[in-house]
Amino acid sequence: MGNFTTSSILLLFLFSSVVTSLPLSTNSRWIVDDRGRRVKLACVNWASHMEPVLAEGLSKQPMDTIAKRIVSMGFNCVRFTWPLYLITNDSLASLTVRQSFQQLGLLESIAGIQANNPSIIDVSLIKAYQAVVSSLGKNNVMVILDNHISKPGWCCSNLDDNGFFGDKYFDPDLWITGLTRMATLFNGVTNVVGMSLRNEPRGPKQNINDWYKYMPKGAEAVHSANPNVLVILSGLSFDRDLSFLKNQQLKLTFSGKLVFEAHWYGFSDGQTT
Ligand SMILES: *[C@@H]1O[C@H](CO)[C@@H](O)[C@H](O)[C@H]1NC(C)=O
Repeated sequence: MGNFTTSSILLLFLFSSVVTSLPLSTNSRWIVDDRGRRVKLACVNWASHMEPVLAEGLSKQPMDTIAKRIVSMGFNCVRFTWPLYLITNDSLASLTVRQSFQQLGLLESIAGIQANNPSIIDVSLIKAYQAVVSSLGKNNVMVILDNHISKPGWCCSNLDDNGFFGDKYFDPDLWITGLTRMATLFNGVTNVVGMSLRNEPRGPKQNINDWYKYMPKGAEAVHSANPNVLVILSGLSFDRDLSFLKNQQLKLTFSGKLVFEAHWYGFSDGQTT
């Protein structure tokens, strides 16, 4: 009996320590949950911004299996990438998973998706994206919706025309439209805890003035459409540089939701380009 009581208490303790009360917000330098307790996001990146615009790997394993594997590896979160055109180009968004893979001639993958994730093979790409978020939610995995690129495909290079405001594939107005739609679509989906507004700004057009001009617009648009999510901003030069914030704070109408994201690679300090 004594042992039983002890282990019950221990289990309760473990349980209460892992359940995060959502939504998240910020408190000084920390991310905290709804009860003010610090939350450390340990996110795995899951790519859904490539040409087929479907989360990678769904031809190999059921999404629920992947979600459970992510949890078993100690992660509590997925940074789930999406290309802007998924939500701004209606003919892309309404393409079914099967059609998307057919267009690319990826017939083997169609058979794999049919076998492992039959429920999404004939739904639209945007519904398939939502289905993955929902599957992660059922497994208590938090999700950050990461706008990774505009035109679906491998990311990123300085010259891919997806790098900075004004690039061929990076129209600031369309970006704000897309962010607003995505924030609206996931308003009320509790496990979506944040949106990172754009991965790795870069390229010949990058400059601090336009960063201060457009990032607040994107942030405000997301916050108005979905006040629950953390609004996550990246810096310049592939998000290796946020140093400009030291001289000029970002002015926003809301507080308690802004997070800065910095990227640090093994080659970051020695890169010459
Ligand atoms: C919209 O998506 C369709 C289907 O992938 C593509 O053929 C078309 O070029 C896209 N339009 C734009 C403006 O990107």
